[in-house]
Amino acid sequence: MHKKIAIGLLGLGTVGSGVVKVLSKFDNIEIKKIAVKNLTKTRNIKNLNPEILTDNPDIIINDPEIKIVVEVMGGINPALGLITKSIENGKHIITANKELIAKHGKVLFELAKKHNVVILYEAAVAGGIPIVMPIVQSLAGNKISKIAGILNGTTNYILTKMEEEGSEFEHVLKEAQDLGYAEADPTGDVQGYDAAYKIAILSSIAFNKRININEIYKEGISNISPEDIKHANEFGYKIKLIAMAQDCGETLDVRVHPMLVPKKHPLASINDVLNAVVVEGDAVGRVMFSGPGAGEFPTASSVAGDVLSIAGEIEKTGFPLPIMRCKHDDTNAKILDINETKNKYYINVQTENLPGVIGDLGTICGKHGINLYSIIQQGIVKNKTARIVLLTEAACEKDIQAAVKEISERPTVKAIKNLIRVM
Ligand SMILES: NC(=O)c1ccc[n+]([C@@H]2O[C@H](COP(=O)([O-])OP(=O)(O)OC[C@H]3O[C@@H](n4cnc5c(N)ncnc54)[C@H](OP(=O)(O)O)[C@@H]3O)[C@@H](O)[C@H]2O)c1
Repeated sequence: MHKKIAIGLLGLGTVGSGVVKVLSKFDNIEIKKIAVKNLTKTRNIKNLNPEILTDNPDIIINDPEIKIVVEVMGGINPALGLITKSIENGKHIITANKELIAKHGKVLFELAKKHNVVILYEAAVAGGIPIVMPIVQSLAGNKISKIAGILNGTTNYILTKMEEEGSEFEHVLKEAQDLGYAEADPTGDVQGYDAAYKIAILSSIAFNKRININEIYKEGISNISPEDIKHANEFGYKIKLIAMAQDCGETLDVRVHPMLVPKKHPLASINDVLNAVVVEGDAVGRVMFSGPGAGEFPTASSVAGDVLSIAGEIEKTGFPLPIMRCKHDDTNAKILDINETKNKYYINVQTENLPGVIGDLGTICGKHGINLYSIIQQGIVKNKTARIVLLTEAACEKDIQAAVKEISERPTVKAIKNLIRVM
């Protein structure tokens, strides 16, 4: 008979319910108490003993028998205060809360070090996909040069449906909300905040530096049109919301924005709500991790893995999981300004249908040191205007922005319909 390790849960929503169901199969774990907001809510869990529910989280964080606190309530308050107090009370922490780790990780990890406890957060990035532990442990022999991922299922679902149905963003967003794939307030997902929290976490462990979340450049997908998706497709690309981080020596290039991804790149085939992360290391080359990035059971799978990792060591050693402890010194990464980044670009321009317009666009690009890879006119559209799509070779963002400004000021140009970076 195993000695049971007592754990406490803060939250019993989508993830918390999955954690209870998954951990019920393990006889070395006892879920002693679960804090919820609303004690009268019906719970979708068979044989749940109502006595283990409480609306007072202090009962959990102050219980000396509880060795592990699993935070699956989300948000910053009261989660931050509860985790802080739990650490001070000597409890190991497991959390699925990317926002909390991305914004307050530094303080929490330092506190955890002081109190000799571990904070694990596998579920905070890409839900059910194992990625934190593989980077920290299995890929430790690599100098990682780049991470690129599809880290938000909602936006990937929207872009997939826009492509399949040829529908506008707003229409598909509404559909996703009706199906429960997008939140009533979708800002965090569609504007790139959620993906930014996740890439901040992955970069901090891959590059061993602290990341200031406010310095990450973010651009969402609300500006992408079915027409952009169609043009990209004709050029041999898919449009995806990409969260990426690459080592540029003195600086780290960390950002979230839509990209044209070549169809032969492994990320191009990640559709619907799935997530994927590509990691490039000097020894391994390129590896991709893919799978469900959210949902009750996939996310619970990651949380349960973390619980069992700690529970397996807790009685054997006074210093469990040394490899998962934060090794950062206090240096913040210097994040490369978006204007200094180098990319290839897709530029969609609506112009008057007059002779010389294409040549003029080429001349402006040349003046700013930008080589064109391809330029095509997509026929005549509304009001005798033409749609011209340019694909550039790699160029500096600030040169592209200057060229686009100059193009937009030409009397023959009606609008810059979109500017999207190309992988
Ligand atoms: N959902 C996913 O697929 C997924 C995937 C990866 C990561 N995550 C992360 O996991 C965390 C939880 O997400 P979720 O989707 O499970 O959220 P959720 O369904 O909204 O559940 C939140 C739970 O926290 C409880 N709660 C909220 N405020 C509380 C308070 N002040 N005191 C006590 N309990 C409180 C709620 O109680 P009541 O039930 O009484 O309202 C509820 O049980 C978030 O950080 C999220 O970002 C979620």
